[in-house]
Amino acid sequence: MEVTLRILRYDPEQDVAMGAPAAPAARTTSAAGSPVRGPHWVEYKVSVDPMDRVLDLLIKVKADQDGSLSFRRSCGHGICGSDAMLINGRNRLACRIRVDQLGKKISVAPLPGLPVVKDLIVDMNGFFGKYRSVKPYLINDQPEPERERRQSPADRTIYDDTTKCILCAACTSSCPSFWARPEYVGPAAIVQAHRFIFDSRDEGSDERLEILADENGVWRCRTIFNCVDACPRGINITRAILEVSSAIVGRRG
Ligand code: SF4
Ligand code: F3S
Ligand code: FES
Repeated sequence: MEVTLRILRYDPEQDVAMGAPAAPAARTTSAAGSPVRGPHWVEYKVSVDPMDRVLDLLIKVKADQDGSLSFRRSCGHGICGSDAMLINGRNRLACRIRVDQLGKKISVAPLPGLPVVKDLIVDMNGFFGKYRSVKPYLINDQPEPERERRQSPADRTIYDDTTKCILCAACTSSCPSFWARPEYVGPAAIVQAHRFIFDSRDEGSDERLEILADENGVWRCRTIFNCVDACPRGINITRAILEVSSAIVGRRG
């Protein structure tokens, strides 16, 4: 079958910068009066198998029609989190969503709310800065045990859901609270903090809860649930955010 694949293209060496486009860009005009191109949709006809994934389509376009098309991918199997993008209006992993789930007209744009570097590649520095800000690692200054820090299965279960995060940014970039206030630490960073806050072996919960209690922390969440819809790992992000909020309140009480 043949599908029409529309891709929002942007080349910083040829196009005017438009921040982080979430919709078809309007043409603008230069000082000299000639049209200046911003981010713009380009349409490709691609022969596909219904079981092909959007990532397969992007690879075909790059191989057969335009080698300059830029996008990130690594594992190809939903593990590395590098190919999240806006596909038919929803944030998804290009390597997980198939043509038969989307139909014959497919649109692909970069993740909303993040600066575009080129085509489907967004600048993840701010996203990873927020991730690092919540200290996403085990904090425990006690002498190391001879073999391992042990934990009961019941204690491990408490944060099982949030261990599944692959840092794809689909949640944070779909959150209207983040769009309105880019300083908001965002759902992905809170999920990563949750994974350690509720780990019985960790002693850094107070530090993390302090960080997440500030004006750009958990209170920015308005329980809009876009993050839950977007998460390719099926993490109950809103529940994790509420558990962290409750821990902050409990600590104060
Ligand atoms: Fe991606 Fe889900 Fe992790 Fe958010 S919580 S970064 S959507 S895997
Ligand atoms: Fe945003 Fe998710 Fe909260 S979409 S407002 S982080 S529930
Ligand atoms: Fe690794 Fe899609 S390429 S998650």
